[in-house]
Amino acid sequence: MSEKKHRVSRRQFLNYTLTGVGGFMAAGMLMPMVRFAVDPVLRKGVDQEMVAVAQVDEITEEPTRVNFKIQQVDAWYESEEPKTAWVYKNEKGDIVALSPVCKHLGCTVNWAGDKNNPTRFYCPCHDGLYEKDGTNVPGTPPMAPLDGYVQEVKDGTLYLGKAKPRGGA
Ligand code: FES
Repeated sequence: MSEKKHRVSRRQFLNYTLTGVGGFMAAGMLMPMVRFAVDPVLRKGVDQEMVAVAQVDEITEEPTRVNFKIQQVDAWYESEEPKTAWVYKNEKGDIVALSPVCKHLGCTVNWAGDKNNPTRFYCPCHDGLYEKDGTNVPGTPPMAPLDGYVQEVKDGTLYLGKAKPRGGA
């Protein structure tokens, strides 16, 4: 009696076999699709690290707007993202590269954009002000200094990377 219980009928055998083979084939077809869908997300972004933006000997003490583009790869999407920096040499001769993005609500700041503040960065959206070194002027809307670009000088050329917050008030 118990021997009969454990016997597998022809129908059951076919069911098991076809299910196993079908599952194996389905896995073979799905694996490449799953890999295609997930792989770019798991891979780290391949953002272009540093971009040549100016010759060091052409940088003056007056902040100058420099436009450049970075290559960005975001999962499946590749793009060229336009960037802007305010670049100048400070009184010590060090290069300063500031982001033009206002720390209040993200408008674009301009050097000497306000005739009453000819030696400051000015944000026209809500009259935000920053000192030449990017420090926000107390009493104006921005609550933090302008971000600074990661920078590197190689063979007389200035390279910029990502803009990073500098903390502060
Ligand atoms: S966005 Fe610049 S002051 Fe408001």
